[in-house]
This record gives sequence, structure tokens and C-alpha cells, in this order.
Amino acid sequence: MYDVKSMQRFLKERLSRERYTHTMNVAKECKRLAKIFGEDPDRAYFAGMVHDICKEDPKEQQYEWAVKSNMGFCAEEARSWKVWHGVAGAYFLKTQFGVCDEDILNAVRFHTIGRKNMSCLEKIVYLGDMTSEERDYSGVDIMRKVCSQNIDKGMLYALRYSMRKQLKRCAVIPHYTMEAYNEYTVMFPDDTYHI
Ligand SMILES: [Fe+2]
Repeated sequence: MYDVKSMQRFLKERLSRERYTHTMNVAKECKRLAKIFGEDPDRAYFAGMVHDICKEDPKEQQYEWAVKSNMGFCAEEARSWKVWHGVAGAYFLKTQFGVCDEDILNAVRFHTIGRKNMSCLEKIVYLGDMTSEERDYSGVDIMRKVCSQNIDKGMLYALRYSMRKQLKRCAVIPHYTMEAYNEYTVMFPDDTYHI
């Protein structure tokens, strides 16, 4: 499996203190969700731990890796630098650390934007990032509760929350996100709740 301890040391040196704390909290939350939803807890812990590995790299570097990744970096993403670290991170993990578990790579790649037909691990990392211990946005307790009960409903609420933030910023929304939003909206046609 993966050398969690050496990755942890690497991240501690690479990331700011806040980002490192967030990273370790996401790992913990991913492990918790994995136990509930029948995913491998160690694999989920590792995926959560590395999800922001490129978050604090220079934008130009993130962009270069995103383009090189061959992981479907789309035109909408190219317009929004805040989402580059996911796809750049997947490329970095693959090329620098030899991570070849496609599910882990996809979980990192799509953790900011989501996509339709996400695997259980992809959903866990997406939601672990939204419900980690230090998150304190209004409604986070409801998010945590929903995520623990129904991972797909958690995705619906998380996507609504994140798309609303994008709309407020007048940002472009990647087609991956739209497709994920439609998937869960169709899944829960009577649920109109907003975090
Ligand atoms: Fe994150």
C-alpha cells in the first residue's frame, strides 16, 4: 500500500500550517465516511490526505500540470484557477509518487468540481473536503449528518452549496459539475433543501 507516514512528512513540509491541518482533518473524515459506506478506510485516508497536494503551488505550475495530465482538463476549468489544483494534484501524484490507483487519482482530480457517476471513493473525498473538522460554514452540521446517512444526498446538498458559491462569484461552471448536479437532482426529485 502507500507509505502514509512519509507522505505525511512530505505534506507537512510542503503545505502551510492551515492547509496541513485541513489535509489531515479531511483524511480523518474520509476514513470515517469509508467505514460507513464500505470503502477501504486506509485507501480513503490516503486519498483525503493527498487531495490538496498542489493547492499551494504557483498557478502557472498548476496550469502546466493540469494541461499535461491527460485527465480531461476542460475549457471551463481552464477559466477558473481555483480548481486547477485537483487535476494538477492527480498528475503530480502519478508522475512524482508513482500513484497508479486510478480511483485515488480520480478522487483527487474531481474533488473540487465533481462529475457524474462518481465512485464511492470520489464521493468520500469530495464530501470529506466539505465536512472536515475545521469547516465552520453555516449548515456544516446538517451537511455532516446528511453525509453520514446518505452519501448521494450529501452530494446533492454539497453540489447545490458549491454551485451557489460559483454563481455568486459569476464564475463559469464546469460541465462536469452541471452533470453531477443533474444526476443527483434527478435522483432526489422531491428534495429542495438548501444548506
Ligand atoms: Fe481541500
